[in-house]
Amino acid sequence: MNGNIIIKNAAEVVTPSGFKAKKGREMAELTVIHDGAVVMEKGLIAMVGRTSELPEHSDPKTFNTIDARGKAVLPGFVDSHTHFIFGGYRAEEFSWRLNGMGYMDIMARGGGIVSTVSATREASLAELVDSGRKRLDSMLSFGVTTVEGKSGYGLDRDTEIRQLEAMAELERTHPVDIAKTFLGAHAVPLEYKGRTEEFLNFIQETVLEEVAEERLAEFCDIFCEKDVFSVDQSRRLLLRARELGLKLTLHADEIVQLGGTELAAELGAVSADHLLHASDQGIKDLADAGVVATLLPLTAFSLREPYARGRSMIDHNCAVALATDLNPGSCFSESIPLLFALATLYMGLAVEEAVTALTINGAAAIDRADTVGSLDVGKKGDVVILEFPSYRFIPYHIGVNTVEKVIKNGLLVFDKSKV
Ligand code: NIG
Ligand code: FE
Repeated sequence: MNGNIIIKNAAEVVTPSGFKAKKGREMAELTVIHDGAVVMEKGLIAMVGRTSELPEHSDPKTFNTIDARGKAVLPGFVDSHTHFIFGGYRAEEFSWRLNGMGYMDIMARGGGIVSTVSATREASLAELVDSGRKRLDSMLSFGVTTVEGKSGYGLDRDTEIRQLEAMAELERTHPVDIAKTFLGAHAVPLEYKGRTEEFLNFIQETVLEEVAEERLAEFCDIFCEKDVFSVDQSRRLLLRARELGLKLTLHADEIVQLGGTELAAELGAVSADHLLHASDQGIKDLADAGVVATLLPLTAFSLREPYARGRSMIDHNCAVALATDLNPGSCFSESIPLLFALATLYMGLAVEEAVTALTINGAAAIDRADTVGSLDVGKKGDVVILEFPSYRFIPYHIGVNTVEKVIKNGLLVFDKSKV
């Protein structure tokens, strides 16, 4: 029964269609098939339609059949921005923030990212793989079948590479697909304090070269932010990364308006992320350049920052993706239902747009819209079955997981009734 599944009698099969990002108004266009069916053969989607159209070949000896009566069926979600490989936790920082300390204040005092850096440097490969696996299990239970993961908690050669190796090991042994991103320029480590340029030289000339040569990552990211890395410094690193064959993504205009959004457009990055303070011009540039605007409302919620202008970005013809930003500091959450709730209630996205943002546009944000992110024939058999009859229940059942089953490459990998 390898990768062969028939889902039939679904209350609705819901999906964006196609093999590239959906921009602007297209984001609201979902295909909804009532009494729907999906056939997966050898791990790939072979048919999507009505149950009455199921082909003859789907005989029960060679196909597992799932009766999805009363349930909605969607493509697996793509969480296109996470930092899920890390050592240690920072629960105390949550209380500091409640008491009014800012995210950047904590960072300036040697907390924040650099505190996770110490814990991650101490963690072995096996420990990083083990904790990473548990986090992937949790993400899978929320319907996530493809995830992006970043390094950036090493800030030295060995630990950065160990983080990427941990993801490579998980890619081999866990059902969730992983897109690996090198984020060596995530912060300036203590040993380089006050010597940002020297640190960037080290990251660029030593670590990035090796990462690219050994093909340890597919993307290069940088935290382009006031008091971290400037627009010029970001441009320099990303241009070199591009020369070395990496695709580009940026943490842009998260805390202040610095111009990272415009830089992402200038460099033709695949995605620009956060964008809480993106300028009007920056938003226009992203739309014109076809850069996916990846919004992370769980982080804004957690930091009590204003939300990115998702509604306006869609109205200005951007392709918007949503992702969790799971990390041990600014946003310790992999909650897809809460993400949906925030995007719809506070960023003004329609439920249909939020579905698109978590599926095909998430896939486009990591350059995988040709293989995942929708229920199109030939794509991977990555499918989510909800406990409820409509996709509308995802944000409506606020903060509660509505996922009943998850199928990855045509194999049932999560079943709520069996846990
Ligand atoms: O996307 N802003 C920079 N990086 C992460 C936070 C990392 C951390 O706090 O550990 C983010 O929010
Ligand atoms: Fe992030």
